[in-house]
Amino acid sequence: MSQRTLSIIKPDGVAQGLIGEIYKRFADAGLKIIAARMLHLDDQQAREFYRVHCERPFYDDLVAYMTSGPIMVQVLEGVDAIDRNRELMGATNPADAARGTVRADFGESVERNVVHGSDGPGTAGEEIDFFFRRAELHPH
Ligand code: CDP
Ligand code: MG
Repeated sequence: MSQRTLSIIKPDGVAQGLIGEIYKRFADAGLKIIAARMLHLDDQQAREFYRVHCERPFYDDLVAYMTSGPIMVQVLEGVDAIDRNRELMGATNPADAARGTVRADFGESVERNVVHGSDGPGTAGEEIDFFFRRAELHPH
């Protein structure tokens, strides 16, 4: 079934010059980019985006990391887009990520792990709405 999901290339991914490499992987996996924007989150936006983790010990560090530089945010569309994108990403900790995944190839640590992807239909809808208005989505 065709689905949409939110993807973020995090500050370490943008700084390593990985936008093109990761976009190629989306295309090869049959994931279409139907919206995209580069932006630099401020503290309040990063706290809001990751609010589910606000009680976790890594929350403040995560917010500092996510606000440390520009990010590239995109909406992906395709069959099983949510799981397919999570497969391309690999496990949260690059040390546990399968070979050939973005996090295994380019992640430095459990925090600095290059990419974000929605983890289910509910969060995908909420996260897409966090960054994009309906008129900014361009299915093709
Ligand atoms: O991103 P993912 O859904 O795989 O993992 P998460 O459990 O939702 O955590 C969100 C983000 O918090 C991770 O991608 C890491 O950047 C960061 N994190 C961390 O810094 N330390 C941890 N022990 C777990 C996550
Ligand atoms: Mg998550």
